[in-house]
Amino acid sequence: MKLLGFSLAILLAVVTCKAEEFTCEENEPFTCNQTKLFNSGSFEKDFIFGVASSAYQVEGGRGRGLNVWDAFTHRFPEKGGPDLGNGDTTCDSYTNWHKDIDVIDELNATGYRFSFAWSRILPKGKRSRGVNEGGVKYYNRLIDNMIERNITPFVTLFHWDLPQTLQDEYNGFLNRSIIDDFKDYADLCFELFGDRVKNWITINQLYTVPTRGYALGTDAPGRCSPKIDERCPGGNSSTEPYLVAHNQLLAHAAAVDVYRTKHKHQGGKIGPVMITRWFLPYDDTPESKNATERAKEFFLGWFMEPLTKGKYPDIMRELVGKRLPEFNETEAAYVKGSYDFLGLNYYVTQYAHTQDPSPPERLTAMTDSLVNLTSFDVNGQPPGPPFSKGSYYHPRGMLNVMEHFKTKYGDPLIYVTENGISTPGGDIPFTEAFHDYERIDYLCSHLCFLRKAIKEKRVNVKGYFAWALGDNYEFCNGFTVRFGLSYVDFNNVTADRDLKASGLWYQSFLRDTTKNQDLLRSSLSFKNRDRKSLA
Ligand SMILES: *[C@@H]1O[C@H](CO)[C@@H](O)[C@H](O)[C@H]1NC(C)=O
Ligand SMILES: *[C@@H]1O[C@H](CO)[C@@H](O)[C@H](O)[C@H]1NC(C)=O
Ligand SMILES: *[C@@H]1O[C@H](CO)[C@@H](O)[C@H](O)[C@H]1NC(C)=O
Ligand SMILES: *[C@@H]1O[C@H](CO)[C@@H](O)[C@H](O)[C@H]1NC(C)=O
Ligand SMILES: *[C@@H]1O[C@H](CO)[C@@H](O)[C@H](O)[C@H]1NC(C)=O
Ligand SMILES: *[C@@H]1O[C@H](CO)[C@@H](O)[C@H](O)[C@H]1NC(C)=O
Ligand SMILES: *[C@@H]1O[C@H](CO)[C@@H](O)[C@H](O)[C@H]1NC(C)=O
Ligand SMILES: *[C@@H]1O[C@H](CO)[C@@H](O)[C@H](O)[C@H]1NC(C)=O
Repeated sequence: MKLLGFSLAILLAVVTCKAEEFTCEENEPFTCNQTKLFNSGSFEKDFIFGVASSAYQVEGGRGRGLNVWDAFTHRFPEKGGPDLGNGDTTCDSYTNWHKDIDVIDELNATGYRFSFAWSRILPKGKRSRGVNEGGVKYYNRLIDNMIERNITPFVTLFHWDLPQTLQDEYNGFLNRSIIDDFKDYADLCFELFGDRVKNWITINQLYTVPTRGYALGTDAPGRCSPKIDERCPGGNSSTEPYLVAHNQLLAHAAAVDVYRTKHKHQGGKIGPVMITRWFLPYDDTPESKNATERAKEFFLGWFMEPLTKGKYPDIMRELVGKRLPEFNETEAAYVKGSYDFLGLNYYVTQYAHTQDPSPPERLTAMTDSLVNLTSFDVNGQPPGPPFSKGSYYHPRGMLNVMEHFKTKYGDPLIYVTENGISTPGGDIPFTEAFHDYERIDYLCSHLCFLRKAIKEKRVNVKGYFAWALGDNYEFCNGFTVRFGLSYVDFNNVTADRDLKASGLWYQSFLRDTTKNQDLLRSSLSFKNRDRKSLA
């Protein structure tokens, strides 16, 4: 209960501090230190506020089959890459799951987005090869406990941790066999948990596995053309990403189809999660404006055009040609409209300008868009405040992305399924990790623009999940960064998960439901106070 002291200090400081005003406008210093003026009461009553995590990042490996991230993290150090650890133990949420739920409860969050480890439910990847009862029991307990505490589960079926058997057997998402295996796994999950889980996410960040896993080789399974990175054990960066993305879309659609045809009576909703970014022109030239539009098509349209129209964007067809697969008529109809909602993850904005084509031997899906993406514009300006070294954020991008999806993709139901920033990681004590004030500014300013999107642009957003519930294994950044609203001591994962300053801020944001609708109407105003009094 050492937390109480911190909570009290914050609340007192908030009440007594000297106030200073700022608005929810571009490039303003976003410093909403207090939640009297802007809080969950500024959103609809049934709006879900939650936190998020994923299986490989938090659970640890006990009691499940091996997956591609196990293989990848244990292979790469030998290949000369930096040893950034692995998810063998991480937070050991397999054992300490109740500590996670305690934190969510303490925050007064109403939703938790987490993922099932496919290889915990089906250690050998296929339903026909046996279900792991221990895994089913684990998720049952987790879900039941959440529901008892009025926390709505949002379950991701696939957050990149493909059972290794399926990768060994047929190269995972490179092979169409994945479509039926994913469908069977999803079908089983709906059967086992669908009476209580009403919000299903098929695949996390459709863009990521094709590009990072098969073009850059920086994520599992770590394939790419040898000319791109000699540490890649073979692959083809110019063709495989497009095949993987294509099979992901078909696997996603197959899962949605089985949900809609066989489990309709469960009355839930299902959709994919997109990683989004906003793109701004690097300079004032028409070329850069064009590049900005191409960036949106290659990053968002790659998946959204098939999901809304059953085909890839014309500009991709023009620039990628035969390397881009095609949906036949049956498949197009199957993929088109295969979602009840879209989960959108938003982190950063980039500047776009034109880039020359790569030489044939270095051809990769990363450069087919002929766009050069940078963190700075032509005048060397970033889009907003800094967070970690060399990274900048852009709260207005949240609004831009929401508006883009509303206008371009037919006003879908949206959940913001991830939003957050990293702060320095490594082996630091709670007292040091606690001071994550830039995370407060980040979350607050993005929520401010999210509310603007809902109120002023009428975007249909029904929930927001901060990334992340707690510090965890951050995939290819390992433990070098911390994303959590709560602290995890990786030297003693059984210790309590204490809220950082950002967790305490989110808690007051959620607990305070004072309505201030008028204040928030057009350009949002906040009062803030001295950062130092928080410490
Ligand atoms: C896909 O996997 C199956 C086994 O499931 C195999 O027979 C087939 O050759 C594979 N196809 C390709 C293109 O690798
Ligand atoms: C990738 O595949 C394309 C099309 O089959 C081929 O032309 C190219 O040589 C391959 N690249 C590599 C690096 O294997
Ligand atoms: C912009 O893109 C379109 C189509 O891709 C092209 O026809 C046009 O020439 C481009 N304009 C500039 C200024 O690059
Ligand atoms: C489309 O492709 C699927 C899978 O290969 C096949 O089963 C189906 O018959 C095809 N449909 C059409 C209209 O060609
Ligand atoms: C991208 O643009 C930046 C800034 O103009 C430049 O320094 C960099 O070399 C460009 N990268 C490529 C691959 O063209
Ligand atoms: C780990 O944390 C628990 C719970 O706070 C505590 O009882 C235990 O002594 C700690 N272990 C170590 C090795 O610090
Ligand atoms: C927050 O949650 C606690 C239980 O953890 C509950 O007692 C309290 O009423 C909640 N507060 C608000 C404002 O919802
Ligand atoms: C609080 O307000 C001050 C300005 O009064 C600002 O410098 C600081 O960043 C704000 N945020 C936090 C989390 O303290």
